[in-house]
Amino acid sequence: DNAPVIAVDGPGGSGKGTVTQMLAKKLGWHLLDSGALYRLTALAAIRQNVSLDNETELVRVAASLDVAFEPTPEGEPAKVILAGEDVTAEIRTETCGDNASRIAVMQSVRDALLQRQRDFQQEPGLVADGRDMGTVVFPNASVKIFLTASAEERAHRRYSQLKAAGVDVSIDAVLEEIRVRDERDINRSAAPLKPADDAQVIDSTGLSIKEVLSRCLAAVGQA
Ligand code: C5P
Repeated sequence: DNAPVIAVDGPGGSGKGTVTQMLAKKLGWHLLDSGALYRLTALAAIRQNVSLDNETELVRVAASLDVAFEPTPEGEPAKVILAGEDVTAEIRTETCGDNASRIAVMQSVRDALLQRQRDFQQEPGLVADGRDMGTVVFPNASVKIFLTASAEERAHRRYSQLKAAGVDVSIDAVLEEIRVRDERDINRSAAPLKPADDAQVIDSTGLSIKEVLSRCLAAVGQA
């Protein structure tokens, strides 16, 4: 398909999730939350008693994922349905994110999810959120944005979200979790987290979501 793609990559907590949702809504384009596919693969593996070290079985789980993204009327994030079960909240947990990043280091698991991601490229266009959207999945994307922020700022945002949700955590624990996840995503050999050569890098440290959105729109040429 030749539908245009806006690839938005970056570490967790950079504001990518919120900004890609807003971009997709504003443009009336499709949205791919590729991280959800890695989270769903990890969750489905656990549900099927597959060890997160069993690469052969993980590939089977990834290739046979029974998943649906159901749009909600108010333009809130889509509901995520795994084999008929609503797992929208469950895939957002720290444990699930950590498990996702463990299986995401395996090239064979990434390969098993590749075509499923490319299938989201449909008219009138796609906003793709991930780590390797501009480098691997959609190398021909018309616009590539690499959204980043300092680890401290990202930890702070995540901490506030967790507090608001009533989760009892310390800022230090959240920062440590972010550092571990960054380390794994940046240093893996399979599709490591890095800006594409032709990406526009936006540092969201100290910016509001509104400011980040307007910088992204400027990058897209819609400001
Ligand atoms: O973005 P999110 O936190 O949902 O992603 C969870 C994990 O999935 C990331 O830490 C990363 O290891 C992996 N991931 C990836 N490639 C993507 C999206 C996510 O490796 N395109």
